[in-house]
Amino acid sequence: MRRILGIESSCDETAAALVAADRRILAQRIASQDEEHRPYGGVVPEIAARAHAERLAPLIEATLADAGMTLDDVDAIAATAGPGLIGGVMVGLVSAKALAMATGKPLYAINHLEGHALSPRLADAGLEFPYALLLVSGGHCQILRVDGVGRYRRFATTIDDALGEAFDKTAKILGLGYPGGPQVERLAREGDPKAVPLPRPLVGSGEPHFSFAGLKSAVLRAKESGKYADADIAASFQQAAVDCVVDRLRIALEKMDEGMAGDKDGVTALVVAGGVAANSAIRAALEGVAEQFDLPFTAPPMALCTDNAAMIAWAGLERFEPGHSDPLDISARPRWPLDPEAETVRGAGVKA
Ligand code: KG4
Ligand code: ZN
Repeated sequence: MRRILGIESSCDETAAALVAADRRILAQRIASQDEEHRPYGGVVPEIAARAHAERLAPLIEATLADAGMTLDDVDAIAATAGPGLIGGVMVGLVSAKALAMATGKPLYAINHLEGHALSPRLADAGLEFPYALLLVSGGHCQILRVDGVGRYRRFATTIDDALGEAFDKTAKILGLGYPGGPQVERLAREGDPKAVPLPRPLVGSGEPHFSFAGLKSAVLRAKESGKYADADIAASFQQAAVDCVVDRLRIALEKMDEGMAGDKDGVTALVVAGGVAANSAIRAALEGVAEQFDLPFTAPPMALCTDNAAMIAWAGLERFEPGHSDPLDISARPRWPLDPEAETVRGAGVKA
């Protein structure tokens, strides 16, 4: 039975996991850096890189020990090679290279987004290509059609902030802690989603892209006006976010179907991944969209939705092919789009 050690360090989680080809997660450890970044209300790249460097080696050792294994029992080493905060990515990739060199095992340099895109297949052996994926976290906001391993078509991206980032910024404006998503969701339960008039950026546009910067500014103006209760602002913001996601996803799913015309069948499922998948209002709305398109809706368990190393090990297993591993001089990539053919979106910033 093939086994791969996965390493993830592209944002603020230091993670290692050992995954077997039959989809068993033999061991996994995640060290979150929330405490380190909390005073700043967001991830500070230098602090993240240093924390990864301090924690990764003992974390890998502990993960192997949890599984009662050593590197001799591992068939390959897979590490995130981008996109992400470059300092952290380099820490993980260099460690993986060192282990690969020391043991002679093959190295797989994994695109972090590919890890997210394939993680639903780790959770669900029955999930067939192609499927539609909404990837929404603090760093990513994309709609993809996953056609196969290494075959991704991006239908939408954000022209400014990611959805999780919008939740985090709203939390900051309302004086809630970091990470903000769960706190905004909690406060929203006590508020009226219709109380504050907020924009739905790009809703109605024929292209399924996202934009959240205008929504964030409107939240700031609502707070500064002093006219609204915080719970009403949170609830109205969350409703606006839900409305944007639903509208953008509908457009994307329609386009996906058009693109599959001819002898190919359409997508087999709607899948959500990324930290924002924890939001119950968003999940409920996605279930509605899936039903409308007659698709099953699935989300990997939360531990696989947020950044983790099991998804990186799994991507390595999906990619594993003798003689096709990556060279030890492969570079870390701060930007690495899954679909290099995707059109550049006007106004799109640094997000992959
Ligand atoms: O996937 P993740 O752990 O890390 C990356 O950003 O890659 O996602 C974290 C993001 C944060 O922005 C956090 O605020 C958001 O997911 N999030 C939520 C909820 N739980 C986490 N957003 C809305 N509602 C939630 N319940
Ligand atoms: Zn991620």
